[in-house]
Amino acid sequence: MGEFRLPRVLISEEQIAQRIDEIGAQISEDYRGKNPLFVGILRGAFMFLADLARRITTPCAFDFIAVSSYGAGTQTSGIVRILKDLNEPILNRHVILVEDIVDTGLTLDYLNRFLLCRSPASLETCVLLDKRVCRKIEVRTRYTAFTIGDEFVVGYGLDLDQQFRNIPYVGIYEPEKK
Ligand code: PRP
Repeated sequence: MGEFRLPRVLISEEQIAQRIDEIGAQISEDYRGKNPLFVGILRGAFMFLADLARRITTPCAFDFIAVSSYGAGTQTSGIVRILKDLNEPILNRHVILVEDIVDTGLTLDYLNRFLLCRSPASLETCVLLDKRVCRKIEVRTRYTAFTIGDEFVVGYGLDLDQQFRNIPYVGIYEPEKK
């Protein structure tokens, strides 16, 4: 492992906190009295969900699903493997999937179909980053914190070879020029 260099800031901690305040308030209003179940998609969504959770002011519950996309590198293949299923049944529950990033849309599309088979009362999606220009399949997201371009981002849960997930902002990692 070489020297640890910090990624360049794309979205700052303050900007993230402000957007999560807004989204948290909106979700709390939209789901009042519905006791929603937030489902974090591991691993990338752990930090976003942890911060969002603290802004929800209506009774709610939390669960996690872990997925992995087959294929190497930074591109998803569209074939999703469930590494850890939900602990809770979702029949008649109001479910909000929480994702760090939507890129091609293949992961979210797969998960939507996978979970709708269990007949939740509703199924919506809350994403931190939407890379809309990279979409291969249309997926609807109900809450979006930020829309970004086609740039490889790390930090705030997102990784590059499992590194940088702990960086408190969203950044762009530029490898050192040789
Ligand atoms: C990332 C991200 C989404 C998916 C989005 O997961 O967390 O799940 O890719 O890409 P898509 O819209 O093209 O399907 P990744 O496979 O990197 O796993 P991680 O959450 O463990 O980082």
